[in-house]
Amino acid sequence: MKKARIILDADFIISEIDRRLFGAFVEHLGRCVYSGIYEPEHASADKHGFRSDVLDLVRELGPTIMRYPGGNFLSGYNWEDGVGPVESRPSRLDLAWASTETNRFGTNEFITWCRLAGIEPMLGVNLGTRGPDEARDLVEYCNHPGGTRLSDLRKSHGYDWPHGVKFWCLGNEMDGPWQICQKTAAEYGRAATEAAKVMKWVDPSIQLAACGSSHRAMPTFGSWEYEVMEHTFDHVDFLSLHMYFTNPHNDSTEFFANIDIMDRFIKEAAAVSDAVAAKRRSSKRIMLSFDEWNVWYKARSEADHQQPGWPIGPRLLEEVYDLMDALMVGGALITLLNNADRVKCACLAQLVNVIGAIKTEPRGPAWRQTIFHPFKLVAELAHGSVLLTKIETPKANTKTAGEVPELVVSSVSHPESQAVTLFLLNRSPESEIEIDGVLRGFPALQKANGQRVTGKNLQQPNTASDPDAVAPQAHQDFSLRDDSFTLRIPPLAWDVLTLNYT
Ligand code: AHR
Repeated sequence: MKKARIILDADFIISEIDRRLFGAFVEHLGRCVYSGIYEPEHASADKHGFRSDVLDLVRELGPTIMRYPGGNFLSGYNWEDGVGPVESRPSRLDLAWASTETNRFGTNEFITWCRLAGIEPMLGVNLGTRGPDEARDLVEYCNHPGGTRLSDLRKSHGYDWPHGVKFWCLGNEMDGPWQICQKTAAEYGRAATEAAKVMKWVDPSIQLAACGSSHRAMPTFGSWEYEVMEHTFDHVDFLSLHMYFTNPHNDSTEFFANIDIMDRFIKEAAAVSDAVAAKRRSSKRIMLSFDEWNVWYKARSEADHQQPGWPIGPRLLEEVYDLMDALMVGGALITLLNNADRVKCACLAQLVNVIGAIKTEPRGPAWRQTIFHPFKLVAELAHGSVLLTKIETPKANTKTAGEVPELVVSSVSHPESQAVTLFLLNRSPESEIEIDGVLRGFPALQKANGQRVTGKNLQQPNTASDPDAVAPQAHQDFSLRDDSFTLRIPPLAWDVLTLNYT
């Protein structure tokens, strides 16, 4: 058994948690919308055609904000195709995913669905095939109260009240050669700036995110962010980050090193945007929107990306997650929490079927993928502020990230519920870790609750026939004394420990 030590102090706070950190993503891609959240033919469909079995699972998962409608899809999307009477909406070729888009589901359906799910909507504007003019039109359509052509058009579509969408993405992954109408940093920086100006002139209360690099391995990572920020700095609030965790060598140690790379990526993106601030002698700080993140390495073949014949709602990117992926997602959530001073918004990509936390069958069941569980627990329990976790932990060596801590921890204090909650990952493949913890500046501990995601088989998925194979289990592997606790966490386990001082 290995040992670790944790010290927490009520006064040492990283940041209050912005609850938008627990967002997710719905793209018109494969079966995320069609036969995912929307399937009028399904037995559980409500009057809007939304699957209520999926809605129930989404409410349980607890995402706070939902990004829509893409993704790569966004860069070829005409928002006008998706509003108004359904029978008049055109079918279009979606060049991003080689599919046919029927437009049966569009912006108003998405907003209605978000309201039913209790989730804040986040919309993207197309800066691929389109530009500032359509972007400001969409803000007017959604957010202007009335008395103009587009706000009255919304009313005529049955939506009297403005949608009040606050968070907007200025395009998607515009540096990627796969993107419809890829742009250079200078081209994108100019387009995003002009779109941002007119969007905020229509509604000054909105917040805007500029595209960062599609991922950290892009050859222009760093210089892209710098140049885009030089253009957009005065007009945007967020810089976006995307990262998908891969496992090329099927090696859990290297796979979990994604946690450390994600942490570096966040600090690098913040540093680059702060360099632009420094050059301008500006005290403004651009916040980070980690608006696509997840495990994605199995469903990555050509057939997973595209199917012939322009199908409607094909099976694309249908990653089946296992226990190891759930541990990885749990580790990534810890990283997001520990960077809560800069990351104010993040979206698990995606919600249903397409690299999704939830899986469905058309006309059939819906169930929780393994990664559902750590996300749900963090979204449910991470309220309040993230504490600085002072930790002494055994270390491991990785090829991907060098020396890394074997125990990864984030601690959250929520005085209203008189609780401190720890999220922990023991990524050691063979050693149990015994943790001695002390809480300074808190009343004596009275009780605790422990939950754990672990198992014997790292490759264990949840399936339609065995939907709860991977699920959190309560445990009692802890003890309390005054302001101290001990916790024993087995190898390859992700834990939540809630400590109550009343
Ligand atoms: O989430 C799947 C795809 O991954 C998105 O469409 C794109 O933005 C990213 O490359």
